[in-house]
Amino acid sequence: MNSLHPLKGPDALKLGVFSANADGGLAITDVPERWRASWDDNLEAARIADRAGLDFLLPIARWAGFGGKNKVREWSFETFTWAAALAAATSRIGLFMTVHVPLVHPLYAAKALATVDHISHGRAGLNIVCGWNPKEFAMFGVPLSDKGYDQAAEWLYVIEKAYASEVPFDFHGRYYTLKDVVSRPASVQQPRPVTMNAAFGGPGRDFAAGHCDFLFTTFTEINDAGRHVDDIRARSTAAGRDVGVYTVCHVVCRDSQQEAEDYYQRYAVTLADNAAVDAHMAGKKEFSKSHDGDAYDRYRKRFAGGAGSYPLVGTPARIAEDMLSISKQGYQGIALSFVNYTQELPFFCERVLPLLKQAGLRS
Ligand SMILES: Cc1cc2nc3c(=O)[nH]c(=O)nc-3n(C[C@H](O)[C@H](O)[C@H](O)COP(=O)(O)O)c2cc1C
Repeated sequence: MNSLHPLKGPDALKLGVFSANADGGLAITDVPERWRASWDDNLEAARIADRAGLDFLLPIARWAGFGGKNKVREWSFETFTWAAALAAATSRIGLFMTVHVPLVHPLYAAKALATVDHISHGRAGLNIVCGWNPKEFAMFGVPLSDKGYDQAAEWLYVIEKAYASEVPFDFHGRYYTLKDVVSRPASVQQPRPVTMNAAFGGPGRDFAAGHCDFLFTTFTEINDAGRHVDDIRARSTAAGRDVGVYTVCHVVCRDSQQEAEDYYQRYAVTLADNAAVDAHMAGKKEFSKSHDGDAYDRYRKRFAGGAGSYPLVGTPARIAEDMLSISKQGYQGIALSFVNYTQELPFFCERVLPLLKQAGLRS
């Protein structure tokens, strides 16, 4: 068993790969080299990240796509099975599974998560999402509810109790009524694998503050990014807990600033899959509160470039500088996306990681 999950290691800034399991990654583009998310490409990206010493692989949970020319995200690998396969193919990187509380029964989640924790010798992580997309919920015949985080608290309690209990137990909650519950094996990590909650709004932050190890969230302006960290710190202190904050960025890293900016313009503006960008932005604006409200009006390019996340565009030095600024504002980690992970990760790892080491953020 690993003594420490990679997210609990000593580095000040943890880095991971986000959304490689889904078509496009986070981008919504028709550029020819766009990410197809084949299994072989996922495996190669995971091995590059593992060898380079990145800390985690984090999948997106998607059931439907956003239409447009390429039906972006319609193709996505289910995250328990994806993580299980990658657990056997990597040796030190953390492996998250991203799970929709209302769509997956907690006992299924408990067993699948424990299975990946055993395969990976303690490297599993659970990224809890309550979801927002009515189309996906309709596929399951489940109504979208504003009680998601209330249910999430019960859902996670059932998982924890299932690991902790040596004997069968009954559970009578508001969302689950369960009889003679057993779930063996328990996870390798005790009392459970590391947990993260992907959210932005107040109820999501309160759930993370009260129940999870980390909040995974967005910011819009880099100079003002720290206010989200202050907010979650206040909430977790009030709950008597210590909760770390991770964020998400899309990356275009090139030798020159101009080259990086030209490529960003090419894939996220000139060759954006506009019908899908419109559908994604309209759906998120109406049903999800995952970003500052004005981000939708001001930053269309960021939605085509990386699903509305913050852009890290430029030379290795510029990107390392931006990461230092994000870290200084209290973020403990960043999940990264690229247009093409296998083509771009090697350059990023080779050129940016040494600068982060020099800056004292990573060993
Ligand atoms: C960084 C981040 C990542 C997310 N990843 C997913 C995901 O993989 N699948 C999904 O359906 N929702 C995802 N969400 C959306 C959340 O599940 C949630 O619906 C959304 O953030 C709105 O609710 P909130 O106010 O609780 O944040 C993500 C949200 C954030 C902030």
